[in-house]
Amino acid sequence: MPYDLSGQCAFVSGASSGLGRRFALVLAQAGAKVAIAARRADRLRELRREIEGFDGRAIPIALDVQDAASVREAVAQAETELGAITILVNNAGIAIPKPFLETEEADWDAIVGTNLKGAWLLAKEVANHMARLGHGGSIINVASIISDRVIGHNAVYGAAKAGIVHLTRAMANELARHQIRVNAISPGYITTEMTQGFIESGEAENIRKRIPLRRLGAPEDLDGALLLLASEASSFMTGSVITVDGGQSVNPL
Ligand code: NAI
Repeated sequence: MPYDLSGQCAFVSGASSGLGRRFALVLAQAGAKVAIAARRADRLRELRREIEGFDGRAIPIALDVQDAASVREAVAQAETELGAITILVNNAGIAIPKPFLETEEADWDAIVGTNLKGAWLLAKEVANHMARLGHGGSIINVASIISDRVIGHNAVYGAAKAGIVHLTRAMANELARHQIRVNAISPGYITTEMTQGFIESGEAENIRKRIPLRRLGAPEDLDGALLLLASEASSFMTGSVITVDGGQSVNPL
């Protein structure tokens, strides 16, 4: 079974909704014990029940990725309750779409603080544990096709995601000696809470027409990339960015 994750211990940030929730379910279904971390603890309890429903193991953990102390405590709690983390899905993220001229310092702090600083803090904490314990592991960062394409009203978000792609490659280079692989998934438009407002505004139809596969993605469209990167099936992959976007980024303008 190339995607079997029995005996692995995964940590998923932003697991209370959207992609993170789906990532946690898929990792648990593949046999991993999963630390499900986010700010909204009530939603995490519901997810835990769902995972226990198929005899999986999950523990909810309160986490604010922008807060270094919270990150340290969350990782320590996960390792105490589940064991050493071998898979990290660095998924927590926010978008605050706004015209560039209207962006404020608080928007920059929130977007870069969550998507880039938060991902760096969490990856550094987990990677330090992996390196110290010497067992290696797989870190999966969640980027976006906006990391190297421009869309309107998301300059700061795109800059943060471009930072994630660079961080992925730089970490891959430095952490390989510890047998820690670092890769990223770069999704296109996926229907989640983050894209809900945009979809309801009717804009989604215009986007759909520009996607060669002629549909927006669903969270389960990322299952394959996730399982590939989390498992031994990708044992010779590090520093890769896997695009999952229905072909949107290869569609000529
Ligand atoms: P979502 O809004 O449903 O989920 C984001 C999650 O991050 C939530 O669980 C939220 O509570 C958590 N979060 C936000 N700030 C946090 C903080 N400070 N500490 C801990 N958790 C925090 O959105 P979605 O779509 O599931 O996004 C997940 C990731 O995928 C994000 O990094 C996003 O940028 C990325 N992405 C999403 C795309 C989409 O089309 N939905 C496309 C490309 C990337």
